[in-house]
Amino acid sequence: MSTEVVLARARIGLLGCGNVGSELVRLLTHQTNGPGLQITRALVRDPSRFRGEGVDVPFTTVTEDLLADRPDVIVELLGGCEPARQLVVDALSRRIPVVTANKSLLARHGRELREAARRHHVPLLYEAAVLAGVPFLGTFARRPLAAGAHALLGIVNGTSNFVLTQCARQGLEPQAALADAQRLGYAEPDPANDIGGLDAAEKLVVLLQHFAGREVALSSVETRGIGDIAQLHHALAAELGGAIKPVITADWTADLRAFAGPAFVPASHPLHGVAGVDNALLLETARGRLLFQGPGAGPLATAATVIDDVHEVVDGVAARPRSSLTPAGSREQKTGWLIALAGRLPSSLEIADYLSAHAIYIRRSTERHSADGREWQGLLTWPCARETVARARHGIEAASGISVGAIRALETLR
Ligand SMILES: NC(=O)c1ccc[n+]([C@@H]2O[C@H](COP(=O)([O-])OP(=O)(O)OC[C@H]3O[C@@H](n4cnc5c(N)ncnc54)[C@H](OP(=O)(O)O)[C@@H]3O)[C@@H](O)[C@H]2O)c1
Repeated sequence: MSTEVVLARARIGLLGCGNVGSELVRLLTHQTNGPGLQITRALVRDPSRFRGEGVDVPFTTVTEDLLADRPDVIVELLGGCEPARQLVVDALSRRIPVVTANKSLLARHGRELREAARRHHVPLLYEAAVLAGVPFLGTFARRPLAAGAHALLGIVNGTSNFVLTQCARQGLEPQAALADAQRLGYAEPDPANDIGGLDAAEKLVVLLQHFAGREVALSSVETRGIGDIAQLHHALAAELGGAIKPVITADWTADLRAFAGPAFVPASHPLHGVAGVDNALLLETARGRLLFQGPGAGPLATAATVIDDVHEVVDGVAARPRSSLTPAGSREQKTGWLIALAGRLPSSLEIADYLSAHAIYIRRSTERHSADGREWQGLLTWPCARETVARARHGIEAASGISVGAIRALETLR
C-alpha cells in the first residue's frame, strides 16, 4: 500500500483568526486546485474560543511558536497597531514576506514597514487594506507607468455610505440608519471610526503612500464625520441636483491637499451612483481617469483578496516597495460649499451681501421653503477656504440667529 504525501505549496503563519482569519481558514480548507496553502499555526488571544464550523487549525498565544515553524508567508489579521507592528517587522527582518489587511497599521507605520521590506528584499502586500473586494493596488504596484496618478477621489467606507444612502432614500435620521446597518452586519458594534471619518482617513493615507509616495500624518488630513448630516442637508442636496456622500479626495499635483468627510456630489459625478455599502476609487492619471468600484469589506471578500496576495508572493510576482516615502503635510483645498440656512431667514439680498462681504459668492440656490414659521434654503458657492466659510457662518448666526450648516461640494467632472 502506498502512502501519498501531499506537499503544501506554501505554509502560512496566521496572525489573528477573527472575522477575516476564520473565513480565510474556511476558504483554504476547500481549496481544490493542486497543492494548496497550509496554515501552520494561528496566533489568537483565546485558543479555546469556538470560531465556527471548519475553522480547524493549531492555535497558539505564543508568537515565537509561530515564527519557529519558519512559515513561507505571514498573514497579519490582528487589527490595531501593537503587537501587529512588532510582529510584522520581526517577520520582515527574518525575510518572511508579509500580507496584511490592516489599514490602521499601515496608516501609522507604513514608512517603517516599507523600509523593513525594502531593506530585507521581501514583499509586503496589503491589497485588502483598502477597497478589500476590489483588487487594484497590486496591479499598480507592478506597473509604475500606469500608477502615475496625481489625484484621487473615492468612497472607501461602506458603513457611512450605507447610512447616508438610507437617510437620503428612506428619510431616516443617522441613528436609525446606523441601527439598520448594524442589524444587517454592515456596521461594527462600535462604529465610531466609520461614522467619525477615521477609517476613511486611514485608507486615504494608505492610498497616498501607494500612489503619491508620500508619508502623510493622519492628523494633517482634514477629517470630518457624517454624524451631523441631517434630513435638511439631504433634501437641499437633492434639490440642488446631487447627494451627500462620504468621500475622500486628494491632489498632489503641487502641494498635497487631502480631505476625508461628507461632501455634496453632483448627479453627473461618477461617485454619485455609488450607493449602499459599495466603495469606489477614481484615479486621475496623465492618461485619463480610471474608476474602480465594488465591495469594500466583508470577511469573505477580504479573505479571498488576502489569499490572492499570498499566491502572488508564492508565485514570485509580488512587487516589493520601490522607494522610500517622502514626508508631506496636507494643506487645505479650496472647494465649493453647500450652505444650509434654517430659521427666520434674512432676505436673499441680505444673505448674498453678507456672504460676498466675506468673498463667498453664490453659484446656485434652492427655492426658499417655509413651514410652521420656519424657513430654510440651500446655497451652492464658488470655491473658498473652510476658514472663510466658518467666519461667515458664525457671523450670520450671531447677527440673525439662524442656523447655518456648511458641507464641502465636489466639482462636476469634465
Ligand atoms: N472585517 C472586515 O470586513 C475587514 C475588511 C477589510 C480589512 N479588515 C482588516 O482585517 C483585520 C482583521 O479584521 P477582523 O474583522 O478579522 O478582526 P477581529 O475579528 O477582531 O479578529 C482579530 C483576531 O486577532 C486576534 N488578536 C487580536 N489581538 C491579539 C493579540 N494581542 N494577541 C493575539 N491575538 C490577537 C484575535 O484573537 P481572539 O479571536 O482570540 O480574540 C482575533 O482572532 C483588521 O486589520 C481589519 O481592519 C477587515
